[in-house]
Amino acid sequence: MNRLSGKIALISGAAKGMGASHARAIVAEGGSVVIGDVDEQNALALVEELGERAAFARLDVQVNEDWDNAVQTALDAFGGLNVLVNNAGILRSADIVDMPDADWDLVMGINLTGVMRGMRAAIPALVKSGNSSIINISSTAGLKAFPGTAAYNTAKWGIRGLTKTAALELAHQGVRVNSIHPGNVKTPMIDGLYMDFKHVAQGRAGEPSEISNLIVYLASDESSFSTGSEFVADGGETAGLPNLADL
Ligand SMILES: NC(=O)c1ccc[n+]([C@@H]2O[C@H](COP(=O)([O-])OP(=O)(O)OC[C@H]3O[C@@H](n4cnc5c(N)ncnc54)[C@H](O)[C@@H]3O)[C@@H](O)[C@H]2O)c1
Repeated sequence: MNRLSGKIALISGAAKGMGASHARAIVAEGGSVVIGDVDEQNALALVEELGERAAFARLDVQVNEDWDNAVQTALDAFGGLNVLVNNAGILRSADIVDMPDADWDLVMGINLTGVMRGMRAAIPALVKSGNSSIINISSTAGLKAFPGTAAYNTAKWGIRGLTKTAALELAHQGVRVNSIHPGNVKTPMIDGLYMDFKHVAQGRAGEPSEISNLIVYLASDESSFSTGSEFVADGGETAGLPNLADL
């Protein structure tokens, strides 16, 4: 359980859902973690649960000063920063013809511009610490389209371009940059959304821990030859339509 021994991570949106699972996995593997979130109550409860290798930074990913403070929290509490997980995201649904400007701007501001702001703030510390990894959370919605979630889809596709650009810029500075593309995963984000999972070959949603397994791999030096790449964990959703006889 020491695959991340000595690694120091900052995760946005880590108070609950997949981000919280990633924080637990990183600490379980010997790393330290800064829980960055606007949800202070759940974040502080998680810090309490994880103990001395966890710290909280109030982080709204739309705010540059919050990012600077979150990076500084990692430096002050643990002495460096090797891993940035850009995980915070929200979902808003509307057909394009009905799209409110405010919803478009909010989803782009959090899900896409927030990722750029996070990388920009963290890169100097990641370069300084060395053997660093940036993990940007996209989605299967960044690999294919879904009707009714244009802003979300566009942001998640944008993360792929941002990830590859950053990978090229940082390849010779000791920082790898990859994206993860989860399918439907059991978190508060999809609570209450009707889904029968017939579009998924395995016919089920994923557990947060099944995505955290990828986070541990990409955060660790085990993934030393991977940068600018897309890692999918989706129960076969993007492989194609399931066998109709199984439906
Ligand atoms: N759940 C899924 O099925 C699924 C599938 C593919 C990709 N994703 C992506 O995975 C990531 C995590 O999703 P989740 O399902 O755990 O979501 P969630 O809603 O369960 O948790 C998201 C977390 O982000 C925080 N957050 C929201 N706005 C923020 C902001 N402005 N600044 C900082 N933190 C903020 C929330 O407080 C919350 O703790 C998101 O990027 C999401 O788009 C989710």
